[in-house]
Amino acid sequence: MQIQELKLLNYRNFKKIDVTFYDNLNVIFGKNGSGKTNLVEAIYVLALSRSFKQINDKSLILKGENLTKIEGILNNNYQTNYKVIITDEGKKVLINNNRVTKISDYISKLNIVLFNPNDLRMIKDTPSIRRRYLNISISQMDVLYLKNLNDYNKLLKIRNSYLKQMMLNGNLNKDYLNIVTEKLVDIGLKLVSVREEFIKKMNQLMASFYDKIAQSGSLELEYKSDYKNKNREELLSLYKKNLEKDMSFGKTTMGPHHDDIKFLLDKMNLKDYGSEGQQKNTVISWKFSEIAFIKEKLGVTPILILDDLLSELDIEKIKNIFELIENDIQTFITTTEIEKLDFLLKKHNSKKFLVESGSIREVRN
Ligand SMILES: Nc1ncnc2c1ncn2[C@@H]1O[C@H](COP(=O)(O)OP(=O)(O)O)[C@@H](O)[C@H]1O
Ligand SMILES: [Mg+2]
Repeated sequence: MQIQELKLLNYRNFKKIDVTFYDNLNVIFGKNGSGKTNLVEAIYVLALSRSFKQINDKSLILKGENLTKIEGILNNNYQTNYKVIITDEGKKVLINNNRVTKISDYISKLNIVLFNPNDLRMIKDTPSIRRRYLNISISQMDVLYLKNLNDYNKLLKIRNSYLKQMMLNGNLNKDYLNIVTEKLVDIGLKLVSVREEFIKKMNQLMASFYDKIAQSGSLELEYKSDYKNKNREELLSLYKKNLEKDMSFGKTTMGPHHDDIKFLLDKMNLKDYGSEGQQKNTVISWKFSEIAFIKEKLGVTPILILDDLLSELDIEKIKNIFELIENDIQTFITTTEIEKLDFLLKKHNSKKFLVESGSIREVRN
């Protein structure tokens, strides 16, 4: 899968640009604040209809304007035109100029794997952030998972509000609660089994990528879940046992909404013991593993974006990472330090693009 042409109108700091990319490696360089992240963010939005940053869609519109348009021509055996239009009122997505009303139909078409320095949160931050990464990664490959996840979250809300009512009113109908709990467990078990499978596979892939990048240390993933190794009946009786507790908290204290992933390097938790470099290498390994997984499962090669990956990494690691970028993956790398890359670029089929004062242009050697 390759993006051939990208057109932006009133997108962040870009008034109007139209750029043709290269099928292999695209190096986007420019000063800090010039718009490199904005540019790769636009490619991400084109694919997934929303930013990887947790922001309101409206922040994507150039200040002072009321509409932004992101348009791309993608090549995946044949050419397809994708478009995302965001206005003050809302968002529209189109494929070949036909409106697609179900967002999930749109986002399942394009696959993208993006690294941004914020992704270190995957290691450093709370379990809820890790679950977010887990959910996004799996959803890209499995539309049914996304549907189940949404259903689970709806049921959880219903259960929690009923628990609160029970606490206030005392003798509410327990049959209703039981029905909701059973449904919650049934969908929860589905989520957990997909997550378990995903992490098992990622564990294998990541260990090997980590080794190739860092060349020391053995990386392991561990899946943490209340549901692990428990069947439906065991879970239902646990929910019964927890009822008093759940009522007093006014929420469901057990379930896949508490799942977590542990990243272990040589058996030590990277969150507490890992260096910045080790954490970064782990996140990069995750991204390359995602690509391998998507390739295997969906039979398509996603677009890879490495935003600001190279700062703070030593040349050896950068070399190792470049070795992992295969020729069939269209890749975007942003950097402020183009000189640092020049010697590597000689070996790769690549094109360089300079981002400067709201414009982008190819720069030849
Ligand atoms: N909606 C917007 N309208 C106008 N400018 C914006 C908007 N959003 C962000 N910017 C500008 O984009 C710039 C940051 O661009 P960014 O892509 O993060 O730079 P970098 O090249 O360092 O990655 C900032 O100067 C910011 O003010
Ligand atoms: Mg940036």
